[in-house]
Amino acid sequence: RHHVLGLKDWTSEEYNTLLKTASSFREVLSSRTKKVPALQGVVVTNLFFEPSTRTRSSFELAAKRLSADILNFSPGSSSLTKGETILDTAKTYLAMGANLMVIRHKQAGVPQAIAQEMDRLETGVGILNAGDGQHEHPSQGLLDLFTLCCLLDFDNPRLALLRGKKIAIVGDILHSRVARSNLWSLTAAGADVHLVGPPTLVPEWFKGMQNKSHEGQLFLHWALKPALEKADFVMTLRLQKERMTDYLLPSLREYHQQYGITHRRLELCHPEVKILHPGPVNRGVEISSALMDDPNFSLIQQQVTSGIAVRMALLFLIGTSSINN
Ligand code: CP
Repeated sequence: RHHVLGLKDWTSEEYNTLLKTASSFREVLSSRTKKVPALQGVVVTNLFFEPSTRTRSSFELAAKRLSADILNFSPGSSSLTKGETILDTAKTYLAMGANLMVIRHKQAGVPQAIAQEMDRLETGVGILNAGDGQHEHPSQGLLDLFTLCCLLDFDNPRLALLRGKKIAIVGDILHSRVARSNLWSLTAAGADVHLVGPPTLVPEWFKGMQNKSHEGQLFLHWALKPALEKADFVMTLRLQKERMTDYLLPSLREYHQQYGITHRRLELCHPEVKILHPGPVNRGVEISSALMDDPNFSLIQQQVTSGIAVRMALLFLIGTSSINN
């Protein structure tokens, strides 16, 4: 694999390679030096055309831990403001020797378009999608997978650990690239995924997202109870107000009353249930503040920490394949 644009077509073997590589980089991160020379001389460019805290900083730290050189780009202070196009921006970094480009954009398909151009020019540059519109956020899906698998077997995280688990994904499914990437990885692992939220944000056409070759099943709900009952994990999602038209936006108080995840609501789930959230969180809307900060249930901080090892694994696996080409 030369680019990571989405998880839709990932094989079990690829997931397991990623999990194993991330696990070995987790050991590097807990060592004294925290660094390996694996990508010395490699240039990684962070092209974030949309805001980010976690993804951008953890890709940057991951590149540094692998001894790569990292170039950061801020659209507001770049020549985009003078009319330079996105493709010309990417080609400018190519001319500076970029080997890997990490791309976030509010428009679905931008990382694919840049990958296509890099391939047409036979550059060997690897593209990593860091979130494109409502399409996919593959590194988030992979870090969520790593977090869950490590919880079940810290020393040997692997896809099969999630077979038969029930995972509820709650909230703004319609606009969530995180939900889409998780849907592919979790059903590939053999977990059953229950999507739940208001009808305007969980449209029926989502049923078509089921990959028939995946062992895990997809279920849709508009009521919280059947989705939460005996769930092993609950993933809450932010209401993405920036992607909503007025008629889709529920009142925040009403939303919390109907779909907000609280300690009380978790009583429906498996007694050892854990909760996830990709961040950033609207405290007190999709999840209560008390639950978010409760280490007995919340994996939110572990997700962020997992992101560094997982992004090191992605940069290493794609970086070494790009460079050898
Ligand atoms: N989860 C996530 O993508 O967070 P950021 O927008 O902060 O990168």
